[in-house]
Amino acid sequence: MEYLINQYPLEQGALEIQYIEEFFGEFPRRKTAEEIMTRLTGRPHLILMCLAPIPGESVRVPVSFKVAHEIFSNEEDPKLADLVGRLHGSVAFAGRRILYSWIGGTRRDWRGQGHFRALNEEQEVWAVKQGFDEMVIKTKNKFYDMRGTLDSLRFQVVKYERNSFDNDESKVYLSKKLHPDIFQEHKSSRTLVEAA
Ligand SMILES: CC(C)(COP(=O)(O)OP(=O)(O)OC[C@H]1O[C@@H](n2cnc3c(N)ncnc32)[C@H](O)[C@@H]1OP(=O)(O)O)[C@@H](O)C(=O)NCCC(=O)NCCS
Repeated sequence: MEYLINQYPLEQGALEIQYIEEFFGEFPRRKTAEEIMTRLTGRPHLILMCLAPIPGESVRVPVSFKVAHEIFSNEEDPKLADLVGRLHGSVAFAGRRILYSWIGGTRRDWRGQGHFRALNEEQEVWAVKQGFDEMVIKTKNKFYDMRGTLDSLRFQVVKYERNSFDNDESKVYLSKKLHPDIFQEHKSSRTLVEAA
């Protein structure tokens, strides 16, 4: 299977993500286009979406998405400063470029078909080309699908932050070192289109 991936400029990508997130009923707090633009403006980032046909139709729709951006050791945004603080001692920033895989998912009907792997592989190719050294992602204990997927994509746990009230809510931080050798593990065949 050949995966079709669109790479979006900021404003269009933010609107596309706001739209696709409407299909993720499992997450109560969805990101708005404004929130996405505020986070990504002025910061190296990548917005990718995988398109696939609706069964029985020829039209392709976005079914999976992934957004990543750079994080720095001296973040001023409170949320990112908090994240970087929590990564202290688990991820080295000095003299290195760190990519944060911020949001992503696959619509339920298209899960298990390799769309997220294809996006992750495309993201890795971009990240290595850009000179990133490591990609970091955060999830929760209760997100079993995401944890299983990140395992398959060869992310390593770098930190576990226990929630003393509810272990479902405990945070798991994972990372993957980025270098051209990881491309040997890539499985997907992809076409990348830069959406205008
Ligand atoms: C996690 C998620 C993105 C996976 O997307 P997907 O398109 O179904 O994933 P893929 O089909 O590309 O699978 C990639 C790899 O992960 C594995 N995988 C996928 N779902 C899995 C699961 N539930 N358990 C274990 N492994 C899984 C696949 O077998 C595949 O491995 P392989 O390529 O080595 O064979 C999707 O289930 C999802 O959107 N879940 C809801 C989002 C979420 O949980 N977010 C949590 C907030 S961090």
